[in-house]
Amino acid sequence: MNDRHRLTFDAIRAAVGSEPSPRRAMESTVQLLARHLTDYTWAGIYLLEGNELCLGPFVGKPSPHTRIPLGRGICGAAAAEKATIIVDDVNADSRYLACSTDTRSEIVVPIMLGGEVLGELDIDSDKPAAFGADDRELLEQVAALLAPRLASPEDRAAAIQAHP
Ligand code: SME
Repeated sequence: MNDRHRLTFDAIRAAVGSEPSPRRAMESTVQLLARHLTDYTWAGIYLLEGNELCLGPFVGKPSPHTRIPLGRGICGAAAAEKATIIVDDVNADSRYLACSTDTRSEIVVPIMLGGEVLGELDIDSDKPAAFGADDRELLEQVAALLAPRLASPEDRAAAIQAHP
């Protein structure tokens, strides 16, 4: 990882380590990602509830996609494949569910514990092909750091955005 990504990880590790509330640990994570990495236009966490990914803490414009069935969108594909997906040009990917017309690229990283998907980190950028190996490495390490904090279904439910 480059220095900026390393510093970002150190800041997230310190914040998550000192935060007893899983919901606030997730909020701090997305805030620190968006603050440190200016290409990260939208940064959010989806939490798995049954067969749906439900929007939890996020930074950026409100997304219309607050509940995404497994297998739908880039988010649902990453959860179904249990693997990170990087999309350099979202408009060229038929799976893409649009959140903002300004978005050009996206990375989705599953948050897993013991081979089970608990949620995922979803980052959008207004810049084309904004995500590379450093971003993958950073976000996969952040996902590993968060995973134990998402183990309880009650904690995951408490972090899901309330719907009107
Ligand atoms: N683009 C995602 C949907 C979530 S919004 O970007 C916040 C997808 O295709 O699954």
